[in-house]
Amino acid sequence: MEKIFAEERIDLLYAEMDRHNRLYYEEDRPEISDAEYDALFNELKEIENRFPELIRVDTPTMRVGGKALDKFKQVTHRVPMLSLDNAFNQEDIGEFDRRLKKELALSLDAEIDYVCEPKMDGLAVELVYQDGVFIQGSTRGDGLVGEDISANLKTIKSIPVRLNTLFPPRLLEVRGEVFLPLLPFRQMNMEREENGEPPFANPRNAAAGSLRQLDPGITARRPLTIFCYAPGAVESHPFASQTAFLSSIDEWHLPVNPLARKVSGIKGIIGFYQEMQTQRESLPYEIDGVVVKVDDYRLQQELGMKSRSPRWAIAWKFPPRQAVTVIEDIIPSVGRTGVITPTAHLKPIEISGVTVSRATLHNWEEMERKDIRIGDTVVIERAGDVIPAVVRVLLENRTGNELPLPIPTVCPECSSPAVKILDEVAVRCLGLACPAQIRESIIHFASRHAMDIDGLGEKYIDQLLRLGLVHDVADLYRLTVNDLMQFERMGDKLAENLLNAIESSKNRELGTFVFALGIRHVGEHTAKLLADSFGSLQNLMAAAEDELQAVREVGPQVARSITAFFAGEENRRVIESLISSGVSPSVAEKRVGGRFTGMTFVFTGSLERFNRSDAQKMVEAEGGHAAGSVSKKTDYVVAGSEAGSKLEKARSLGLKILSEEEFLTLLGGEV
Ligand code: IVH
Repeated sequence: MEKIFAEERIDLLYAEMDRHNRLYYEEDRPEISDAEYDALFNELKEIENRFPELIRVDTPTMRVGGKALDKFKQVTHRVPMLSLDNAFNQEDIGEFDRRLKKELALSLDAEIDYVCEPKMDGLAVELVYQDGVFIQGSTRGDGLVGEDISANLKTIKSIPVRLNTLFPPRLLEVRGEVFLPLLPFRQMNMEREENGEPPFANPRNAAAGSLRQLDPGITARRPLTIFCYAPGAVESHPFASQTAFLSSIDEWHLPVNPLARKVSGIKGIIGFYQEMQTQRESLPYEIDGVVVKVDDYRLQQELGMKSRSPRWAIAWKFPPRQAVTVIEDIIPSVGRTGVITPTAHLKPIEISGVTVSRATLHNWEEMERKDIRIGDTVVIERAGDVIPAVVRVLLENRTGNELPLPIPTVCPECSSPAVKILDEVAVRCLGLACPAQIRESIIHFASRHAMDIDGLGEKYIDQLLRLGLVHDVADLYRLTVNDLMQFERMGDKLAENLLNAIESSKNRELGTFVFALGIRHVGEHTAKLLADSFGSLQNLMAAAEDELQAVREVGPQVARSITAFFAGEENRRVIESLISSGVSPSVAEKRVGGRFTGMTFVFTGSLERFNRSDAQKMVEAEGGHAAGSVSKKTDYVVAGSEAGSKLEKARSLGLKILSEEEFLTLLGGEV
């Protein structure tokens, strides 16, 4: 094929593929089969291979595949991505409407035009179009800085690579929600269970997991889609209202939720909310409320923003979903620290697209207070991501055959004594070698925020314990390929990957290692503080309670828990064993003699030149410490705009207060 014909053919293929994508993803009426679509795709790919100079930025072949990334690049949003205030009932909404009228100096019987939209339960993203071509997409992140997930967003077929208009804005940033519809979500979970992988708890988690894949090839296999709902920065194409914005982007083939609608006044909002509540059950995707926005962008401007949310919009959330089912059994289970908690095993029931068969009863006191018994008919509730909880018993369904479960006096796993410790609601197993505690401690040790041993999940840990290959965390580092080959469904390659993952966890930072040990009351943050203060595992293990308490944020209870942990003979043995298998926690080079050695900084207010975590890193790199609250020990308070109570406190303590610029100068060493 000659180049000139190739160019022509490329034009045609682009247009065809765009049309078929639209028919398939937006209009739900495909005209060709998947195989026919693949043929177009392959033809285009072939031409591009022959004439790489003809590949354009918006080629449909770039939507899939591509190289896996190490990590995502950071993107600063030109306009911060705000969140929304919540309303939970009609009074809250009435209050919102009244406040707006007051601020806009409207009479109380005036009716504001609002646009109501379903509140999608997915992930907020930003799409950037330059001269009508998709050039970048990012996650919301902390609202100011997100992650560049362009490659993944390109695999979402309903996101146009080019806007369908001859006169696109010079710059158009569009915010929207990426989500996974319920049907593919259920399918995906079924497949995961067949493959022995844990199912996703809800479509939101599934969408988040799919979108944050470093390998866009994986994202491409998940049928994600998007509804766009707000502009970010826009150049050369002012929109007058939300209605005008939505109808323009809809014409340009950006997906817009067809249920979005302009309504008048508070009555209109309530009508829309009730309609959505009724429709909710039959929608093919999850919504968790309704978003109400002032339609007129001039009024939006006049109302302005608070620090984290606009004054002109509000999210009216649906109440958590409830369902009625029967408690078939109540099983006590033992956690990592030996706490024994009751879990209700339920007659399986579906709530918001997820089959629920367990619910937490929190603790024995609560179980007794609510008088929950085996055989009871109960109301359960599932709010967002949290584990379903039992709300109350339907006493009218009692037959008299229900059985209350007494508070255990022995551990259900190892039969050691179980006791309720003074001042705590928890009942705790006292057995040191309790298998359930060991299991939980290994799961915690290998988990993402701890040693981050990729691939070593509960499934494998259970097999390791069952086969007697592992008795404590140190045994992990002695495993061989032959050991792992005893697993069900294990191949050479997988075994090797797992061993590599274990091997590469040997030099995690000291703070991470301390957290991974699972000392009671020592979370990620405290572990890091301890590592920073003591500098080595040996020093930390030798520290007395008062030395530990000298560390910021460590009180007597935490200090006691740490010394008790390191005094435990079994714990010392496991730590020695870890070290002799080559585990060697690394200590970040602290800049001794750094400009800020020994100094404490507090950042407050909204910062414009850098974000909080960067600021913290800058301070730490110079040997200083960034704290969350102001005290006499604070050396400098760096105040951005709208700084509040912390700044006041700093003033009253007579501390040194710096602007962002002054801080940067100090960092640069010019002061
Ligand atoms: S508008 C300043 N519209 O809800 C306005 N948000 O709780 C920003 N969301 O971060 C958002 N559906 O992820 C808007 N129709 C909708 C939405 C929506 C879902 C999410 C979005 C936002 C969160 C705020």
